[in-house]
Amino acid sequence: MKIYSLLIASVLVTAPSVQSFADDQGPTLFKTICATCHTIGKGKLVGPDLKGVGDRHPEAWLIKWIKGSQAMVKAGDADAVKLFKDNSMIPMPDQALSDDQIKSLLAYIKTEGSEEEAAAPAAAPPASGVDQVTIATQKAAADQSKESGGLLTMFSFTEYILMFLMIIMLIIIWVLSTAIKSLAEKRVEDALKQKA
Ligand code: HEC
Repeated sequence: MKIYSLLIASVLVTAPSVQSFADDQGPTLFKTICATCHTIGKGKLVGPDLKGVGDRHPEAWLIKWIKGSQAMVKAGDADAVKLFKDNSMIPMPDQALSDDQIKSLLAYIKTEGSEEEAAAPAAAPPASGVDQVTIATQKAAADQSKESGGLLTMFSFTEYILMFLMIIMLIIIWVLSTAIKSLAEKRVEDALKQKA
């Protein structure tokens, strides 16, 4: 029963995650490009902590900055020059991203920043008649896939182990049944030979 619940939970959890993964590139972009130099709420790395950056600058300024910060510094934009000086004059590399990509990045930075603060439990009302284990697993897996965002980490470690064990079990059953079948066939052949 537990294994079935886990499997059902994996399917339930995976379907919406894949969907949102495809729609929203913000988390992926952030992790692959920006996370080398920036955190959201975990302090300064090469660049400043980006938590609350949406409140520090207007969106148009941020889009312009991310596309070409040095151009702004050279043009004498006061905020840009100050940022550059405050960060030991390390230039942030220009990002070849579209406005939409930057907007989904900023949206991700905003939600990540507020989640840091509240860490609100996403209380989904339990559907009646659904196994409690299913709900618990679903929630745990949902939390995890939300946190990591990647396709590889969409399942929990336990789910991977269970899937792996199931595959091993199927292989064992297949090998045993083939062996038993050939043994039975041999017996019948032998018996027939003896009769003849
Ligand atoms: C190679 C390191 C590096 C990478 C990669 C990088 N940044 Fe930066 N970023 C910086 C530095 C350094 C600054 C500080 C300003 C300066 O020195 O030019 C900065 C500043 C910023 C600021 C202004 C922060 C503030 O407090 O006002 C924003 C917004 C920003 N980066 C967004 C991004 C985003 C979004 C990405 C990914 C697409 C990204 N950065 C990738 C190094 C980086």
